[in-house]
Amino acid sequence: MRPIDVERDTPEWYSATQDPDMHAWTGNRVPNDIDEVRELLRGYNAHPEVMVWCIWDRHATRMIGTYWLAVPYMSERKRISIDAQRIAKPFWRTGRTMAARRLVYLYAFEDLAIDAIRASAWEGNVNSCRSMEGAGFELVEVTPRFSGKHGQELIERHYVLTREQWRRVYRPV
Ligand SMILES: CC(C)(COP(=O)(O)OP(=O)(O)OC[C@H]1O[C@@H](n2cnc3c(N)ncnc32)[C@H](O)[C@@H]1OP(=O)(O)O)[C@@H](O)C(=O)NCCC(=O)NCCS
Repeated sequence: MRPIDVERDTPEWYSATQDPDMHAWTGNRVPNDIDEVRELLRGYNAHPEVMVWCIWDRHATRMIGTYWLAVPYMSERKRISIDAQRIAKPFWRTGRTMAARRLVYLYAFEDLAIDAIRASAWEGNVNSCRSMEGAGFELVEVTPRFSGKHGQELIERHYVLTREQWRRVYRPV
């Protein structure tokens, strides 16, 4: 994983985001043109509240995803962050997502001293829900919320990965 290099990454991310399945459960849609992707990546880099990385695959020699981690904030005397990720469809369920999670969580829990990471997904986003469950997240709440994109109320699943759970899942002794 490395910082996003807007000029270098734009063509590959434009190509990856042409698949409508990438956007079925996110706030994004298929970009109209390459300039839209360039602006999107610039916006990620300029965002004051999130750290965003490019997931670059050394075997495929291409950008295969983005990973976001929110700048930590305090809540009930705990240091909290939020994460989200997008992986190009050909690389779903190939171990890349888990590899990226390992790196980000090591950084989050060890270097940033975060106590817990929160994340959520629509119930219909089976890949995302199962991926989080497989990565050690615990389901803490299930709530209805209107999705403007889908034009209806959907069920949202809220997850938490605590430092203790991260140690259990990622650092077996
Ligand atoms: C969500 C996303 C990051 C998940 O990554 P992924 O590579 O598809 O899934 P993972 O490899 O992390 O899945 C881990 C495990 O979860 C389970 N799992 C994942 N998807 C599953 C599915 N559709 N059905 C059953 N089990 C599933 C499996 O046990 C899997 O391990 P396995 O492949 O070795 O069997 C990816 O699908 C993606 O980028 N989707 C589009 C963007 C998106 O929706 N992002 C999240 C927004 S909230």
